[in-house]
Amino acid sequence: MIPPDAPGRERGPRSGTLEPSLAQRSVGSVRVRSLVEDSIVSSHPDNLALIDWQAGQPVSRRFGDVYFARDSGIEEARHVFLGGNALRRRWTALEPGDRFVIGETGFGTGLNFACAWQLWDAVAPRAARLSFVSVERFPLPAADIGRTLGLWPELARYRDALLDQWGELAPGWHRLSFGGGRVILTLVVGDVRDALPRVDGAFDAWFLDGFSPARNPEMWESDVLVEVARLSRRGATCATYTVAGEVRRGLEAAGFAVSKTTGFGRKREMLRGELTGPRATRWRAPWFAPPVPAADRRAVVVGAGLAGTATAASLAARGWSVDLVDRHATIAAEASGNPQGMLYARLSPHATALSELVGSGLQYTCRSLPTLALEPGNDFEQCGVLQLAYDDDEARGHAQLAALGWPGTLLSPLDRAEASARAAIELPVGGLMFPRAGWVHPPAVCRALAKHSAIRLVLSREAVQLRRAADGWVVSDGTEDIAAAPVVVIAAAGASAAFAETNHLPLRLIRGQLSFVPATPASRALRTVLCGEGYAAPAQHGQHSVGATHRFRDTSTALTAAEHRENLAKLARLAPALYAAVGGDRLDPAQLPGRAALRCSAPDYLPIIGPVVDAAAFAIAYGPLARDATLELEASSPWLDGLYVNTAHGSRGLVTAPLSGEMLAAYLEGEPAPLPRTVMEAAHPSRFLLRYLIRRRSPRPR
Ligand SMILES: Cc1cc2nc3c(=O)[nH]c(=O)nc-3n(C[C@H](O)[C@H](O)[C@H](O)COP(=O)(O)OP(=O)(O)OC[C@H]3O[C@@H](n4cnc5c(N)ncnc54)[C@H](O)[C@@H]3O)c2cc1C
Ligand SMILES: C[S@@+](CC[C@H](N)C(=O)[O-])C[C@H]1O[C@@H](n2cnc3c(N)ncnc32)[C@H](O)[C@@H]1O
Repeated sequence: MIPPDAPGRERGPRSGTLEPSLAQRSVGSVRVRSLVEDSIVSSHPDNLALIDWQAGQPVSRRFGDVYFARDSGIEEARHVFLGGNALRRRWTALEPGDRFVIGETGFGTGLNFACAWQLWDAVAPRAARLSFVSVERFPLPAADIGRTLGLWPELARYRDALLDQWGELAPGWHRLSFGGGRVILTLVVGDVRDALPRVDGAFDAWFLDGFSPARNPEMWESDVLVEVARLSRRGATCATYTVAGEVRRGLEAAGFAVSKTTGFGRKREMLRGELTGPRATRWRAPWFAPPVPAADRRAVVVGAGLAGTATAASLAARGWSVDLVDRHATIAAEASGNPQGMLYARLSPHATALSELVGSGLQYTCRSLPTLALEPGNDFEQCGVLQLAYDDDEARGHAQLAALGWPGTLLSPLDRAEASARAAIELPVGGLMFPRAGWVHPPAVCRALAKHSAIRLVLSREAVQLRRAADGWVVSDGTEDIAAAPVVVIAAAGASAAFAETNHLPLRLIRGQLSFVPATPASRALRTVLCGEGYAAPAQHGQHSVGATHRFRDTSTALTAAEHRENLAKLARLAPALYAAVGGDRLDPAQLPGRAALRCSAPDYLPIIGPVVDAAAFAIAYGPLARDATLELEASSPWLDGLYVNTAHGSRGLVTAPLSGEMLAAYLEGEPAPLPRTVMEAAHPSRFLLRYLIRRRSPRPR
């Protein structure tokens, strides 16, 4: 780094220790309000890295500082961050199955990450896993990452793997997975001061790598260092190139024992620290505090739709053996059995939990599809999704979203002519284009996710009862035992609440019907998915999927002419030219093929993902919240050890289910989650029990 490391600056308004009001705001349903208060960081050009290239090296125009030492960035990364945290020694001593968690402030060019990954490959056991969480406010464009890491040919394979998944990152949380899950990168695009308080985990080592404290003081504020300590295990280490007094004092105040050691290149000294002392802690709502992760990596997953197969895949990638049970003879036989599903996320301009989840989920699914054993064109097509501004409200919402300046790789506004050109069919209005989205064949995704030597399919078996055993749970069909393991994950959509242990979950079923409209030479022109009140996909195997209806209180899966008629009417409004091209007026709804199935959703339209409690014991443990919802109770949550649920993906399972596997794996492995703590809590199964308690209602909502 370029000197100078200036002496400490004046403390800003964010400095100081964590105030208790933060914790109080997280109590019960009040949490939902605080989520809405969070502001989205726009990815307006103001939020992109501005890189100047000087003497072949990247320099930040915004900060007037270099990303790494000019003499040799790679040697500096190895000396300061890998050496400063003694990673070679610590990783050589790991056992197969161990996990190591690194946190980084300032992802920058990814050089530190690539160097860590390279060392991990060289010295860590094959069956160990590295979880790397990095926060970056101003992500670099892919071209600058590529050019930077291209300076070191030995990093070529790490650069290529990173760029394969990079794109232009939108603000929010991004989960990237490499080497079949051996290395997981959770990249939080946002300000470190907002991001770290929303991270959960027990970190082993830290790379503190903001620009020089004189030029980038917010990266070194005492609050940030307190968060670093809060997230650290006892004995965790940190390293940084700077010896600025304020940084040293901040780390010491946070609980690190700090020492100076030999710096790299022209810098005489650097700092390394070890968390030895008491650290600042913050009261944590015990009803959401994660249970102790499982030690024995064996699970039964009930339900082989998108949620169950994603769960099984995320666990198998972490060395788990999974029995995947389904009541049908094939996987993906219910809601996940449609021929085409759209990657359609209605983003909100406000940072609600749902919007954060679908934003991260959409990007995770788009990133994952090319890595699965799928046949492009047949199993999925990232042909883009056009979300049409079909009325004034929708157009206003689009304008608000577009004003946030998301990167064009996530979405961009198109006027009517541009949208028509992209779709290759005349459209009545413009809208938002999601260029990396498209359609997928959900059964193919489920099959690809379930294809792992550690996943055993147990088909044509209906799970009816759970029974506790000495070492976990036994799943039975009421007569015979089907499977047993220390962990059971119920991913049985609407049937997830059919077990005595889960019947407090407020699930509801929403019937939906798709119409399969025969393609014509004219309709085959359609190039993108069209979404509005309904949706239509480009032709697959000679037909367009047109959908979909929503029927509450109807659990039949028989096709009806009335719902075909409804789908056709929506198509006529969405894209009259496409409707005409398929001969819409001449189609007989009574004769159309289609498919009907049941979606499962929760009253708040968020999925339900996480550990399950004993509902009666929960009501007793947290009963006092009914009197005062702001109480900071200490009683630990009465978990049903080893029992988890993953359901209620509603009408966007393709967007939320793949990431839900990573969310569950985070609980089961005790690793950093792919989403902010607030979103994990918003999707937590206990949220309903808590709300009923606080609103003094019965804990049995149904
Ligand atoms: C008409 C329609 C159109 C849709 N369109 C889209 C779309 O365009 N984009 C999108 O993202 N989403 C769409 N969805 C929603 C999406 O299909 C769902 O969100 C997703 O499939 C849910 O996956 P799941 O695994 O939770 O449920 P399911 O796929 O229903 O899987 C549950 C599995 O559990 C099994 N099971 C249940 N009970 C038991 C038991 N007791 N024992 C053993 N096995 C059991 C079932 O057999 C089933 O295989 C649509 C849904 C419908 C109905
Ligand atoms: C020295 S560079 C990091 C170099 C990086 N570790 C690498 O391997 O290339 C510092 C990084 O911190 C980021 N940054 C600066 N202020 C930030 C903030 N408030 N929150 C998060 N990141 C910030 C910068 O955009 C920059 O990418």
